Amino acid sequence: MSDASEDIFLDRMLSLGLARVSEAAAIASAKLIGHGDEKAADQAAVNAMREQLNMLDIKGVVVIGEGERDEAPMLYIGEEVGNGNGPAVDIALDPLEGTTLTAKDMPNALTVIAMGPRGSMLHAPDVYMEKLAIGPGFPVDTVTMEMTPTERVEALAKAKGCTPSDITCCVLERPRHEALVKELRATGCAIRLITDGDVAGVIHCAEAEKTGIDMYMGSGGAPEGVLAASALKCMGGQFYGKLLFRNDDEIGRARRAGIEDLDRVYTRDELVTKDVIFAATGVTNGSIVSGIRKDGEYLEMETILMRSKTGSVRRLFYRTKDV
Ligand code: FBP
Repeated sequence: MSDASEDIFLDRMLSLGLARVSEAAAIASAKLIGHGDEKAADQAAVNAMREQLNMLDIKGVVVIGEGERDEAPMLYIGEEVGNGNGPAVDIALDPLEGTTLTAKDMPNALTVIAMGPRGSMLHAPDVYMEKLAIGPGFPVDTVTMEMTPTERVEALAKAKGCTPSDITCCVLERPRHEALVKELRATGCAIRLITDGDVAGVIHCAEAEKTGIDMYMGSGGAPEGVLAASALKCMGGQFYGKLLFRNDDEIGRARRAGIEDLDRVYTRDELVTKDVIFAATGVTNGSIVSGIRKDGEYLEMETILMRSKTGSVRRLFYRTKDV
């Protein structure tokens, strides 16, 4: 262990508690899968996550949450969580990552939470972030933010010992990504277009054999970027993020969060500077974890629970009475 704050983080003890938090949010939002109401699904997940989080023996502060204090009544950035008896920790959370996916019963909706010692995570404002990710096993900077999309595909294909047509990139399907998709198509690579959920999109790269995705590219929420970086810190893989600002209000958000260099490209370990634990539970079926399932009077769900210190990845199957 390298410093005092890590000594008292108790990541091993806290990890099962973190899985419970993630499971509780999934159970609550499950009732709203396919009901066309994003807000209700999100609110149910927020309430349940907050209630469980407040049972944990931590002095937690939400650094990545539902929004700034005046926008989000619960799990807002800066909210203190936990019962106050335990280590001082930072919490990054997205009680329902993929509200639309849940409302429409589409794949890869997750509940997500990460925890690290106090001061371990970038206080990313709620702006967009340009993201780039690949899985483990490649030399540092095999792909970089400075490269064009074409150069990234060619570099990754070379590092993998294959051709660009064997590479699959995951991209959020958005009008802002039209030029990116056009350029990627010209390289001959395959593209997995997703309608939402770029935390799952990035995590896919860490299990390329299983998911078929080699690289993630494009812009999405900056808070989701910190969560994705936390996951890759546990699973291995490279992640780069650069904040994007559309107006002065967004720049103001960054300044208030203490960010001075607005053009900085953050590496995974600059977004998440110390060892973290990460949990995500499947709400709808996905390639990382299965979705929550009703079996008579029981609910069954799957959670991926990880610790960066050991690189341990557990998949927990949980069955409980549907009360
Ligand atoms: P929500 O669950 O909050 O709806 O976010 C889903 C999501 O797809 C994220 O995964 C992604 O980072 C972000 O929205 C992209 O934002 P936008 O829809 O504005 O492109």
